[in-house]
Amino acid sequence: MLVSAKEMLEKAVAGHYAVGQFNINNLEWTKAVLLTAEECKSPVILGVSEGAGKYMTGFKTVQAMVKEMIDGLGITIPVATHLDHGSYEGCLKCIDAGFTSIMFDGSKYPIEENVAKTKELIAICKEKGMSIEAEVGAIGGEEDGVIGQGECADPQECKMIADLGVDMLAAGIGNIHGKYPENWAGLSFETLDAIQQLTGKMPLVLHGGTGIPDDMVKKAIDLGVAKINVNTDCQLSFADATRKYIEAGKDLEGKGYDPRKLLKPGTDAIMQTVKEKMELFGSVGKA
Ligand code: 13P
Repeated sequence: MLVSAKEMLEKAVAGHYAVGQFNINNLEWTKAVLLTAEECKSPVILGVSEGAGKYMTGFKTVQAMVKEMIDGLGITIPVATHLDHGSYEGCLKCIDAGFTSIMFDGSKYPIEENVAKTKELIAICKEKGMSIEAEVGAIGGEEDGVIGQGECADPQECKMIADLGVDMLAAGIGNIHGKYPENWAGLSFETLDAIQQLTGKMPLVLHGGTGIPDDMVKKAIDLGVAKINVNTDCQLSFADATRKYIEAGKDLEGKGYDPRKLLKPGTDAIMQTVKEKMELFGSVGKA
């Protein structure tokens, strides 16, 4: 069932768990995430970066694929199609394509401009029944060419953006996209706590879900995180399983080169990763 992310996140805040956003890259990725969410009876958010949207030949293709796949696979759990780190123009394109949710990443703008642009997009989303995520304080690391320094967000600025009426708020708390460096200082729970105190029941979003130790993830959920984004972990498990298949020479046995066989170990590995994350986030059985 394609829905906005609003209700699933409100339920997550009330139930003290988090919904996973899993970024998708192609048909196999989408199928793996949807089937796992259905098996786990978990709500799920399919994240699509602007780069991945382009790779899949446009947001309209993505939306149509997800919609038809939900029908074809008999998926009954709530699913949101969500633009990840969208530019203003990217947000408009996704609204036009029929996505059920967007993230406007205005963190690179001065706060006044971030507020103004976020406000305009909120008005459109409300009218369309879509949910919207905003960002304050850049998330560290690099994702699809979007580079952030990993600063901690200013809780007062978070309150300003939350008060505009966004449905979820991504606030930098020392989190980084991609693999965490050896000398990473960890999440700033002090910042998270201060943001939560000021924004009340606003579902907070933790980006950079790959490589954060389980105890930190659980503590973040306790402090109001209701959505956790995972991308790199699925890419790593897909690549690892595919490499093992090829290194074992399986693509050369029989018709092992058939893409349906060649891509299966990687797809199965994504399913395993998604399942583990859903168990950790506490969203299993919450659909
Ligand atoms: P990772 O790639 O670190 O899991 O981060 C994903 C993310 O935050 C998408 O916005």
